Amino acid sequence: MSDTQPDIRKGLVGVIADVSAVSKVMPETNSLTYRGYAVQDLAEQCSFEEVAYLLWNGELPNAEQLAGFRREEASQRGISPALHQVIQAFPHDAHPMDAIRTAVSFLGMEDPEAADVSEPATRRKAMRLLAKIPTAIAAAHRATKGQAPVEPDPKLTFAENFFHVVFGKVPQPEVVKAFDVSLILYAEHGFNASTFTARTVTSTGADLHGAVTAGIAALKGPLHGGANEAVMHMLAEIGEPSKAVAWLEGKFDHKALVMGFGHRVYKNGDSRVPTMTRYAEKMAEVVGDRRWMEMSRLLAAAMLERKNIHPNLDFPAGPAYHLMGFDIPLFTPIFVASRITGWAAHVIEQAADNRLIRPLSHYTGVAQREVPALGARG
Ligand code: COA
Repeated sequence: MSDTQPDIRKGLVGVIADVSAVSKVMPETNSLTYRGYAVQDLAEQCSFEEVAYLLWNGELPNAEQLAGFRREEASQRGISPALHQVIQAFPHDAHPMDAIRTAVSFLGMEDPEAADVSEPATRRKAMRLLAKIPTAIAAAHRATKGQAPVEPDPKLTFAENFFHVVFGKVPQPEVVKAFDVSLILYAEHGFNASTFTARTVTSTGADLHGAVTAGIAALKGPLHGGANEAVMHMLAEIGEPSKAVAWLEGKFDHKALVMGFGHRVYKNGDSRVPTMTRYAEKMAEVVGDRRWMEMSRLLAAAMLERKNIHPNLDFPAGPAYHLMGFDIPLFTPIFVASRITGWAAHVIEQAADNRLIRPLSHYTGVAQREVPALGARG
């Protein structure tokens, strides 16, 4: 590196910004572990609550610890009349990601420990956010349809309650399991853009609600979490399997991005995809609609053959959520309901060994000059 030619890593590609013990992303084997456990094993063998506990505590809970965690989460699901009023005042065409970003910011102002950035307070606030985010997402979504909010049910699991607050009913166990699996797969993923954003906010000494609000803003973008919605819009635009390959050829002609494909870290596939695809296939069987998965299969094969680019998790998650009955604008908010676990784990880790995150830029503007008098300016 010299003064004139600094080593700039645009997009921070390949930069190792800090240590982390939360998860390990292994591009060489296309795999991911949370606290040492393979994510596909956690998805098959654990509930989302167990994984949330794991991310926050470093170990899986025993039965008693799990019961305590579930009890605490279930008891915190209610949101205040003031937040309900604010949600009712949101513009009805507001995107649900903007709604949940605003609701989390509001929850920060209401939280009794808002300004306390100590680790015990951050852990309590994280639990409250985990519990309340689905209630706020569902209330905002129902408001756009003129529907009254549904009170959360503390007897239900996290995944069951999500369906309950959105639809007013809980579907059959296979659907709940597929949703729970998606929550586990979305929970954590190293220094992705939204997590790094949350860590950057935390590094300034700001509080959890600020970090999560910023994380939600970053997650909304179509290059990050917004891709699961974009995938379903793409499948809906294609319409039927027979048109999939021709549609894709048209995209190649324009060098356009195909949503749900490619990844900054994994270049040869993503270990979360086979698991999510299997559960999306199960949803197609349950619903009796194979169209979206057939289209997905054709697109994935053609992308691999023509571009050697693999699908990412958003590719099977999009049609899976559609088959579960969720409206497309809810897909990325579901990602928020899950990723709050990863964000909070990273906020705790960042705060425990903090140094302000403050990189440098290489100036390429005009050279230093004198300020001309007002009358002498062109
Ligand atoms: N569709 C078409 N081409 C793609 C592509 C996609 N989804 N993803 C990558 N490519 C192309 C790039 O345009 C680039 O081509 P070039 O060399 O001719 O310029 C090449 O593949 C290498 O791209 P890469 O450097 O690996 O991408 P990146 O690391 O900067 O970006 C993403 C990664 C995720 C932002 C990118 O793949 C993308 O935009 N994907 C679609 C959005 C998406 O699904 N996001 C969710 C991510 S989990």
